[in-house]
Amino acid sequence: MPSLEEARHLLAALEHRRSIGLKDMSPDPIDPALIDLVLSAAPWVPNHGRTEPWRFTVYTGEGRRALGETLAESYRLGTPAEGFKSEAQEDFRGRVWKAPVWIAVGMTPPSPLRFPVWEEIMAVGMAVQNMHLVADSLGLGMRWASWMPALHAHTAAFVGLPAPSEHFGFVYLAHPRPGFEWPKGERHPIAGKIRRVTD
Ligand SMILES: Cc1cc2nc3c(=O)[nH]c(=O)nc-3n(C[C@H](O)[C@H](O)[C@H](O)COP(=O)(O)O)c2cc1C
Repeated sequence: MPSLEEARHLLAALEHRRSIGLKDMSPDPIDPALIDLVLSAAPWVPNHGRTEPWRFTVYTGEGRRALGETLAESYRLGTPAEGFKSEAQEDFRGRVWKAPVWIAVGMTPPSPLRFPVWEEIMAVGMAVQNMHLVADSLGLGMRWASWMPALHAHTAAFVGLPAPSEHFGFVYLAHPRPGFEWPKGERHPIAGKIRRVTD
């Protein structure tokens, strides 16, 4: 017997999930048990052949310092000299202190590859969505960061997943700052993106 009520609860949770930016985060630490709860959601996604390709590196506390230095250096390496701004470099160096948890998101495919690599990458995307949903249910803010220094090859090397693994940037996680109001999401109606074939 289908449970409409459960489905509605789940849909409401999906609609409630938001990406929360650094300016709205509290830098205070998160209970490690909550971080583990978020991570434990990742494997419960479809993944072709059960390859479980997701890989995460979790940076907290002083563990973020070297990451901040790396992001600053990646900004320098990836910015043409005429566009380089030392304020921007300092901004990238300091971002790691604005959220207490930074999680590098990566993918390690099976060797030899059994399926097209896009299948592995999609599984990682779904794993991150699961983490998003559990973070949201705990009242934690989370956002995927894929700005240039987050993705730069120097940052990928720092995280340390050599090819054929791939690095997809970071998600950061935090309690929202005091007084923060959880934003409402906006989406176009799904009907406009569906073609129905009935005969
Ligand atoms: C792969 C991926 C990369 C993203 N990178 C960034 C980013 O670099 N900066 C950012 O502000 N948001 C980033 N986002 C979050 C999106 O901006 C966000 O999901 C979108 O605005 C919809 O908002 P919502 O997640 O609250 O529904 C990324 C999302 C995904 C899936």
